[in-house]
Amino acid sequence: MKLQGKVALVTGGAKRVGRSIAMTLAQRGAKIAIHYNSSRKDALLLRDEIESSYGRDAEIFGADLSKPGDVRRLSDAVLKYFDSVHVLINSASVYHKDQFGKTDSDSWDETMAVNLRAPFLLGQSLGLEMKKAGEGKIINIVDWAAKRPYVDYLPYCVSKAGLLCLNTALAKALAPEVQVNAVLPGPVLLPESMNSKQREAVRSATLLKRLGSPDDVARAVLFLIEDSDFVTGAELTVDGGRLIA
Ligand SMILES: NC(=O)c1ccc[n+]([C@@H]2O[C@H](COP(=O)([O-])OP(=O)(O)OC[C@H]3O[C@@H](n4cnc5c(N)ncnc54)[C@H](OP(=O)(O)O)[C@@H]3O)[C@@H](O)[C@H]2O)c1
Repeated sequence: MKLQGKVALVTGGAKRVGRSIAMTLAQRGAKIAIHYNSSRKDALLLRDEIESSYGRDAEIFGADLSKPGDVRRLSDAVLKYFDSVHVLINSASVYHKDQFGKTDSDSWDETMAVNLRAPFLLGQSLGLEMKKAGEGKIINIVDWAAKRPYVDYLPYCVSKAGLLCLNTALAKALAPEVQVNAVLPGPVLLPESMNSKQREAVRSATLLKRLGSPDDVARAVLFLIEDSDFVTGAELTVDGGRLIA
């Protein structure tokens, strides 16, 4: 599917990896629905940058994806503003450290709601709209750690493993009109709170002995949208070899 003139919703699109994906799709000619939760200011800056750099239509949409009502309002609002949605990127995510033995059910519930239930609800509502319209692409941004969980991020890793199952299930439910694929990033943009010793440990744990960048993820997403119409239900690891190290 060529992106020129198409509409793409990027959840968690205001900052970091989501922002890079939004910019990359806008550069290819897509109109961008930028979803944010707390980062309204960044979302507005990104909207202005997309419009001034690429002359594309872009709009911002706030929603707390832990709340099903907000998720429904998000898909309704995007469809109302743009009339249709051709591409859904599920990138928003909660990433809490949850020490095993001290993880409470609130943290579990919030992580599952944002990282798994929201992609399901959006995949269902917008995916069926795409199917009705005869074409569409859904990309789920997962994590290499969905396949090799680390115990101090257990709810996060389990939510991402669930997202891989959802990826397969949506690919089946929405075929043949809509292709659904996953990107599994490795360390592309570390949390700002990490110190230099921790960063070095992460870097040296990859096979390629370096960190990636948000653009590595954005390029994989672009490939899955524009150059891979025979690919569905796939899982593309973009992790510098971290999974197999
Ligand atoms: N960064 C990496 O190296 C890396 C590695 C592996 C996988 N990934 C995956 O790649 C994706 C993007 O990574 P990232 O580092 O850019 O993610 P991030 O900064 O941790 O989070 C992305 C966005 O998720 C949104 N979000 C959090 N809670 C939300 C809620 N309740 N409702 C709605 N939105 C909410 C936030 O939006 P607001 O700021 O607007 O609140 C945030 O900006 C994620 O799915 C992540 O799991 C990233």
